[in-house]
Order: sequence, then C-alpha cells, then structure tokens
Amino acid sequence: MSILYNKISRIIKKVTNKKSAKLHAPIFFGKENQYLKECIKSTFVSTSGKFIKRFEEEIKKYTGSKYAIAVVNGTAALQIALRVIGTKKYDEILLPSLTFVGTANAIKHCGAIPHFIDSEQTTLGICLNNLENYLKKISIKKGKFIYNKITNRRIYVVIPVHVYGHIINMKKLIKIAKKYNLKVVEDAAESLGSFYLGKHSGTMGDLGVISFNANKVITTGGGGIILTKNLNLANQIRHLISNAKLSHPWKFVHDKVGWNYRMPNINAALGCAQIEKINTILKYKRKITTKYQREFKSIKDINFINQPEGCESNYWLNTIQIKNLKILNRDKILNKLNKNFFECRPAWKLLHKLKMFQKCPKSKLNNSIKLEGELITLPSSPVYGKK
Ligand SMILES: Cc1ncc(COP(=O)(O)O)c(C=O)c1O
Repeated sequence: MSILYNKISRIIKKVTNKKSAKLHAPIFFGKENQYLKECIKSTFVSTSGKFIKRFEEEIKKYTGSKYAIAVVNGTAALQIALRVIGTKKYDEILLPSLTFVGTANAIKHCGAIPHFIDSEQTTLGICLNNLENYLKKISIKKGKFIYNKITNRRIYVVIPVHVYGHIINMKKLIKIAKKYNLKVVEDAAESLGSFYLGKHSGTMGDLGVISFNANKVITTGGGGIILTKNLNLANQIRHLISNAKLSHPWKFVHDKVGWNYRMPNINAALGCAQIEKINTILKYKRKITTKYQREFKSIKDINFINQPEGCESNYWLNTIQIKNLKILNRDKILNKLNKNFFECRPAWKLLHKLKMFQKCPKSKLNNSIKLEGELITLPSSPVYGKK
C-alpha cells in the first residue's frame, strides 16, 4: 500500500504545488464583499430581496433552464422536487446506492421508499443496462404505472445522480423512463457547469436540482436551486417553499402544510458574485484535471476517471480508481494521505448498507460494491488551477 500512497501523494503535490491541499475549498475573487455589504445595507438579509431573483435569473441564463427556484439547500430542493412531481407515500423511487445520503433522505422525507440500483464503472452513475433488465424482471404495468411485483408498490421516479460532475447517458435514461412511465428528477447537486450533448445538467429531466454548498463549484454558503421547464411545477414549488402562503400585502393565509425553504437574500448575494466567475472557476478546475490526467496516465493499476462520452464534465472532484482495492487497504491509503494533509476521500458508504436503508429494495449491486472500495477523490479546489 505504501508504494501506491507514495505515487498518489507525489502526484497531488506536483499538481497542486502544495504540501497540504483541500478537497474542494471555495474561491472568492469577485464582487462577494460588495454584494454582501449591499445586501446588509438594504436590511433585506432574509427570504426577500433583489439578489434572490437576480441569482435565479443568472442560473437560468447559464443553464438554459426555463425556470429556476432558489432554495435553502440541495437536499430540500430534492425533497420539494419529488413532492411536486407527485410522489405519494410508499412509492418506490429508483436511485443509485452510490450517492450522497441526501438523495435517499429526500425520498424518505416524502414518505417514499428508496429503491437502490447498481452503478456503472465508467460514468459512476446508474448503470442503464442493469436498470432496464432489472425493471423488465421486477416490474408489472397496472393502468398507467409500473409496480414492483414483490412489494406491490408503485415505482414512480428515477433519480439519476451525476456523480462528481459526470453526466450519464441521459438520452438512454429518458428513453427507459418513458417506456416505464417514470418521472425523472436529476440530482445535479454536484454538476453545475457540466453539459450532456450541449444541455446543462439538471435541465433534461422533469426537474433537476443543484447544490451550492461550500464544497461545490460555486457556493451561496448553503443553498440549492430547482430547475424545470414546467410553469405549473415552478409555481407549485414557489408556493410550497414559502409556507404555502397565499399572496396578500398583509394577511397571513396558508392553504397547505408548506415549508420555509426559500433561499435567503444574503446567500443569494454571495451566489450572484460567484456565478459571475463560473467560467474562470471551471477553467481553473480543467487545468487541475489535465494535470492529474497526465500524471496518472503512466501509473499501472490506477485509472483516472474521465468524463463519459457525450459529457463535458465540471470534474467537481477528480477521482481515481485503484483496481481490485479492498476497503481495508483503501482506508490505509486514505489515512496516510489525510494525516499528511492531503484531503482525499473515499466514495460514500453505499446507502443500502446504512442501517436506516438496509430493508429497502435493491437490485444486484456488484459494480457499486466494487466502486465503493476502489474510488478515491483527490484535492480539486479551483485555486490549485490558478497558475
Ligand atoms: C449527490 C448529492 N445529492 C444531494 C446533495 C445535497 O445537497 P446539500 O448539501 O446542498 O443539501 C449533495 C451535496 O452535498 C450531493 O452531493
């Protein structure tokens, strides 16, 4: 293991040109201070103010989405997206086991049930061949919808997750979804700045969700946004995230149990400054990726994860796959890297293994189990690509 450790740490040192490196720290080199001061001066630091609308407009322009609704974080965004698309209690929602826990939590918060699907070695997202074969085997059509033959529950939504910024074959996914009458909610939390055949991540499904947590490509401190081309869904989202308050200059009348999930103006102010720099940030990140790609090319047994066919990735987290690595040895390497101040991470512990999701339905997860042991993410903070 120490030979592998030496090779990886040597490359990180060379690529970042640092003796210690963060996984993904935000970078502030635009008008962040100016907009934050302006926001504070206006006194509108909470859920109304001009920066919210402005940020939504900027994201619409950048992603090409017809509507964009800013919310408090990506997990809340997923929850609301699932809700407005019509998820009912006990519906089964398909998602990869290899994703951040927030994806599954959002499903549970809707009273629905995560149903785990295997991932693909190349894209790290849902394995579409496995998905199609699996649905053929386990589902039955009753009326408009498909049902799980074993549990008798409706299978209603599929959530493709664009892991580390890499977008899966969305054309094929949408074809499968149409065949089985599944709604598509894209978990594009990690993929601002990623495009598939010219379309921005999150704009290809019924709804898409992006996160602006501080570890993402751009940040609003905490925050998320829901993308959709459907006006009716956009209106429902705005209503639900504002405590389902009916519009009135001074009366408090609410017609549903809603949420207080709107993005505060002060977060949006930060976002407005950050989105102005998105192209420069992506350029810095590309530089880091090119260096890693060059360095890892000649290393036997280590595969650098490249963007899938048709995808222009933001390379949110540059990732290597060490062939046949077991979790125990992976952890030995990670321990040493982190002790030596190189922030590297494993892939997430597979969600079907977490105690709250162990009883959820799942397909065979052979690829995911292999990937879990073999993937390591590398320091990818944009600042390392500045020079
Ligand atoms: C794949 C994925 N889904 C959902 C989320 C949730 O986003 P947030 O942290 O903004 O709630 C994240 C973020 O960390 C994520 O990586």
